[in-house]
Amino acid sequence: MAIQSILRLGDPRLLDMATDVIDFNAPELDTLIKDLFDTMAAADGAGLAAPQIGVGQRVVIFGFDDNARYPDENAVPKTILINPKIIPLSDESDDAWEGCLSVPGMRGMVTRHTHIRYTGFDATGNSLDVIANGFHARVVQHECDHLDGILYTQRLSDPKKFGFTEELFESHQLATIECNE
Ligand code: NI
Repeated sequence: MAIQSILRLGDPRLLDMATDVIDFNAPELDTLIKDLFDTMAAADGAGLAAPQIGVGQRVVIFGFDDNARYPDENAVPKTILINPKIIPLSDESDDAWEGCLSVPGMRGMVTRHTHIRYTGFDATGNSLDVIANGFHARVVQHECDHLDGILYTQRLSDPKKFGFTEELFESHQLATIECNE
């Protein structure tokens, strides 16, 4: 186990552009992926990007299978995605509340593409090519944004729809307080 501390909004490293992984055999890549999973599990998150633990490489992980925590969402397969590319598959988009482990205790309304295709590589360098919709597509877009130094707070669909999770829940703007990242 190597739980790393998660950088928080305001740390300038979160705004950096991450660089491509070149060597899929590097032991550092294995360590990074283990650290990401340990850190995500400890924080009870649905996704995490390498820059959030201070590593400027294009590596994200996401996925969850605990439906009780996300009663309105389908399970998303546990995925390691390296050097990703996202292609929107339609003009359709939807709005939903997002949180981020780097912005603890807060939620904001963000517009994302509803249907995407994403490509990239797994931990051993094999190609991935996946079609994702809805919440799955949202999580991928959120995590990949971190690789370009973008946090959801830069993508709010309405600056008035941003605040502390507890207040949003108390005022019935947010239906659940369970979902992290
Ligand atoms: Ni995030």
